[in-house]
Amino acid sequence: MEILILEENKFDDKAAEIALTQIKNKPNSTIGFATGNTTVGFHKRLAEKLLDEKVDISTFSTFNLDEYVGVSSQNQSSCYYRMEEQFFKPLKLRKDQINFLNDLSEHEDLQQRCIQFDKKIEECGGIDIQFLGIGLNGHIGFNEPGTAFETNTHVVDIDLNTRESKISVFGSLDNVPKQGVTMGIKSIMMAQKIVLLAKGESKAEIIFKSLTGPATKDIPASVLQLHPNLVVILDKAAAQKINQ
Ligand code: F6R
Repeated sequence: MEILILEENKFDDKAAEIALTQIKNKPNSTIGFATGNTTVGFHKRLAEKLLDEKVDISTFSTFNLDEYVGVSSQNQSSCYYRMEEQFFKPLKLRKDQINFLNDLSEHEDLQQRCIQFDKKIEECGGIDIQFLGIGLNGHIGFNEPGTAFETNTHVVDIDLNTRESKISVFGSLDNVPKQGVTMGIKSIMMAQKIVLLAKGESKAEIIFKSLTGPATKDIPASVLQLHPNLVVILDKAAAQKINQ
C-alpha cells in the first residue's frame, strides 16, 4: 500500500494525474468512479486535464460504483446527475462509454441489473483503476458494515448513519433513499489498481481503523489492505491519526 499525504491544493491534482496517466498509456482503459463530496474536485480536474492535453478519450469507459433506488438521472441528488455535471458533460462522453446503475426502479428486477453490470465489467476486461471514497462507518460504494468480502454487485439497505451523512445532498433524512445498488466488495477488489481518497478531519478515525486494524467485514474499507495495488490519497486532516 502506498499512502500519499498531500496539501489540500495538491489532492485533486494527484488523483487526476493517476487517471490521466492511465488513459494516456492505455486509451481504452476502464476507470471506476465514486461520487460524493470528496471526489468532486478530482473529477473536474481530470476532465480539465484530458481536454487541455487533448488526450484521446474516444475509447475509454467509465463505471460508477453505486446509485440510489428510485432516484432518476434527472434528479440533482442522483449519483448519475452529479457525475454527468462534473465529468460526462464537460468531456461530451458518448452513452456507450458510460456504465452506470442509473434510473433504478423498485419495480424492476434489480438483481438482473446487478448481474448485467458485473458481466459488463468482465466484457470490458475488468476495471483498470477503481477510485473510492470512504464513509464515516468505513463503507466503500454502498457496501455497509457487515457486507461479506465475496459480494458481487448487489442491492443494499443503506445504513441510517450513511443516510444521515447524505442529508446535505437530499435536503432531509426523509428524502434520502433507503435502498441503493452497489458494486460489491469482490467486484471492487478485482480492479487492477485501487485509489482510495479521503479528505477532512471527520475521516481521520475511520482511515486509521481501515488501514491499520485487522481486515474485517465490520469495516468494509479494511479489505483494501489485502489489495496488491492500493494507493491512498489523504489530506493532512484525514491523515492525522495514522501520522501519530
Ligand atoms: C458514492 C460512494 C460512497 C462515497 C462515501 C463518501 O458513490 O461510493 O461510498 O464515496 O459515502 O462520501 P463523501 O465523499 O461525500 O464523504
